[in-house]
Amino acid sequence: MTAHDQRVVDPGLESAKSAPARRQVIDLDATQLARRLILFMPTGETLAALVAQAHEHAAGIATLDTVARVVSHNPDALWAIARRHRFCATRPTAEGFIALLMLNDGGLRQLLAGTLDAVDPDMSLLAAQNEKPAAIYIWFVHARGPIAGGIALMLQKISTPLLRDVDMYARAMTADGRRFLQALTFSPVRQPPAANTPDLYIFRRSPTPAPDTPLYDTYRKKAGTGAPAITVARTLEDLMRVVAIRGAVYMSEQRCPYEEEFDGNDQCAVHLLGYVGDEPAGCVRIRCFASFAKIERLAVRKEHRGTGLAVLLARASMDFCRAKGYGLLYGHAAKHMIDFWKRFGFEVVDEGREFSFSDFVYVAMTLDAAPAPQTVTHASDPHVILRPEGCWHRPGILERSATRLTSSPSIAETPA
Ligand SMILES: CC(C)(COP(=O)(O)OP(=O)(O)OC[C@H]1O[C@@H](n2cnc3c(N)ncnc32)[C@H](O)[C@@H]1OP(=O)(O)O)[C@@H](O)C(=O)NCCC(=O)NCCS
Repeated sequence: MTAHDQRVVDPGLESAKSAPARRQVIDLDATQLARRLILFMPTGETLAALVAQAHEHAAGIATLDTVARVVSHNPDALWAIARRHRFCATRPTAEGFIALLMLNDGGLRQLLAGTLDAVDPDMSLLAAQNEKPAAIYIWFVHARGPIAGGIALMLQKISTPLLRDVDMYARAMTADGRRFLQALTFSPVRQPPAANTPDLYIFRRSPTPAPDTPLYDTYRKKAGTGAPAITVARTLEDLMRVVAIRGAVYMSEQRCPYEEEFDGNDQCAVHLLGYVGDEPAGCVRIRCFASFAKIERLAVRKEHRGTGLAVLLARASMDFCRAKGYGLLYGHAAKHMIDFWKRFGFEVVDEGREFSFSDFVYVAMTLDAAPAPQTVTHASDPHVILRPEGCWHRPGILERSATRLTSSPSIAETPA
């Protein structure tokens, strides 16, 4: 239903088409705006009048019945905007409004996959007012000229402790809509080509990893960005995710027998687990030898291909090996994957001698990798060495243990 076009664009933004003034709308002083504009939750006739206004300007949008259902499910879903000097509390009328869909996990998944029915949304995909949504989708904005300042006030309304770190999404239906979202610092969501969401934009409010976070530690649960991210598999459940992915990709797609896929090396290897949103989508395995590390079993689930996760996993595995101090990286590339690995600098070695296993023909490839500046060595701080694999860049549980109360009487009793 979102239809951002010139109607919602602040006149200042419209005139700045070639070089949109970033943040122009959200940077408007909310205190000043609040002197001129008022935001309120409309009901009854006021709501009906607003929806009728929206229907005059845009086709194919939700009916009053649907809007009323969404609003009664979660009253935070619709904010009416009025000019303060025209506003009468006993007979409230509005000149514009902003409608939001407070999506739960299922709703966000459908939004990212392009299957969300935004004209008549399924209520089971929406969070109630007291529930934390997984995403806030800007459903519709009808706010012309000076009324567009109401957007800044709405951002304040959705900055309560429950909502302030929930990412916002919107679709740009026109070139003006795109400019408008870019001016608000929304950025395009990178989606698989299969997803029908080419115009989806995100305004990230969830805690995102610091810019210098290594690629192998970028996944944060419920970050809600939908962008591919990676973590080191650390728990039994993470390992189950890896097994599920490899079961789907290698056993099911490539018909690899179980005994060959799960070859006895999984317990002694490091696994990187790739996510698309909160869905485990890909993995890669690393095995460390004295003088080299081997990168293997790269897999991305069919439904998540084309998201850039394969490249991210490959890069993350190389960075991980470099952080462990490996200068020589090694792999067996199926012949059809040689070009994929070449893009990272891998070269075919052993004069391209071919060998086969599990129904594929392979060649050996290596990469001379420069050591990472943050390589962990025996001279590193002991606390850094104690940190969990792949978390060498942030304090771990053991260094924090120095600040907790002693929990073991035997230690407390040890003489100095
Ligand atoms: C191989 C695999 C991981 C790639 O995943 P993917 O999601 O299709 O990869 P992406 O779409 O992110 O592709 C990343 C890039 O690699 C390129 N690429 C993908 N497969 C390639 C191949 N076989 N040869 C050369 N380039 C390839 C893509 O064109 C894309 O390039 P771009 O970034 O310039 O657009 C996935 O297809 C898979 O799991 N296959 C089955 C398991 C397998 O064969 N693993 C390889 C073990 S060595």
